[in-house]
Amino acid sequence: MVKAALRNAAGSGAAKTIGILTSGGDCAGLNAVIRAVVARASLGYGWRVFGIRQGTMGLLRRPVEYDELDPGTAGINILRLGGTILGTTNHGDPFAFPLPDGSRKDRSAEVIEAVRLLGLDALIGVGGDGSFAILRRLAQQGGIHLVGIPKTIDNDVGATESSVGYNTAVMVATEALDRLQPTAASHDRVMILEVMGRDAGHIALAAGIAGGADIILIPEIAYRMEAVAAHIDRIRRGGRNFALVVVAEAVPDRTGKRVRAAGAPTGTAYGGIGRVLADEIARLTGAETRVTILGHVQRGSQPSWDDRLLGAAFGVHAVDLIAAGRYDRMVAWQNRCVVDVPLADAIARPQQVDPDGTLVRTARGLAIGFGDG
Ligand code: F6P
Repeated sequence: MVKAALRNAAGSGAAKTIGILTSGGDCAGLNAVIRAVVARASLGYGWRVFGIRQGTMGLLRRPVEYDELDPGTAGINILRLGGTILGTTNHGDPFAFPLPDGSRKDRSAEVIEAVRLLGLDALIGVGGDGSFAILRRLAQQGGIHLVGIPKTIDNDVGATESSVGYNTAVMVATEALDRLQPTAASHDRVMILEVMGRDAGHIALAAGIAGGADIILIPEIAYRMEAVAAHIDRIRRGGRNFALVVVAEAVPDRTGKRVRAAGAPTGTAYGGIGRVLADEIARLTGAETRVTILGHVQRGSQPSWDDRLLGAAFGVHAVDLIAAGRYDRMVAWQNRCVVDVPLADAIARPQQVDPDGTLVRTARGLAIGFGDG
């Protein structure tokens, strides 16, 4: 192991100092990414790694907020932990930073200055498409050598089949259905499970199939309330006394309006469509309904083996990209391999559920309804 590391280091050129930050909503597997980056950079190449605190917020503070990471502090001790040891933020865009008086200020130059102050040869940004758009703009403006690692429970980053955090979120949502089914059956109820996913229905679709849902509603497939009610009626006429419905948070109500969480800090977060559906289903079918809004438990779990594996592969490949001097790229998972793609591709095409894709066809083959029948 040590010999291999020294061999790698010998061929790696000048010693570097790299930075890593986590940005956007946290998810399970971020610490597995950090561990992999630290291991590869430090043991593989003999580089220093600075972990920046709270995404770009750490770069806006003076003194700049960061910790030097090494395999002792950021090694296998963090592999199993949910969240991110670095902290993160999903607001505070440095190009339009919110000020107390409600106005916005461009603070991008401060972020760029911080990267120079730390002497970073390259920066690894672990984020979703929103974070990548901001980080890429900063990189272009400030000549920062940027590599992206995709993470989001929503799994909507383009050009990669999977992002860190998605698998664990699906696992949590599936487990929620496992727990809802017995209580639904005991009380003859229709249970509605609302899951996250922003504008994509990946979590709802995957968990709905894995957890035996009867109906899956996703933003990519328009539904009619009457079709949802008819599906539930059919199930009950067939002799089953309960039903499970999974709904993605961005599914609109019957007027086409997205339901937003009251008092959400960013003012943009979705939440509450589950309650709307429960009322409508009760009204149209006479069934007793209950709602579970799963919320942030989908983000907070210990990472699944899959997210740890993805985090490891992504972290190692990201460092190798820096060693090869290949920047403005995002690591990605395609056809059972870790690859890298232009960051621009990942930002340009967010990945929504394909309404004609394998998983939708699978669900239909299982007689799961999408409310479009
Ligand atoms: O993008 C991840 C995500 O968890 C979405 O699924 C959800 O809509 C949003 O973040 C919630 O954001 P917040 O943590 O600000 O409530």
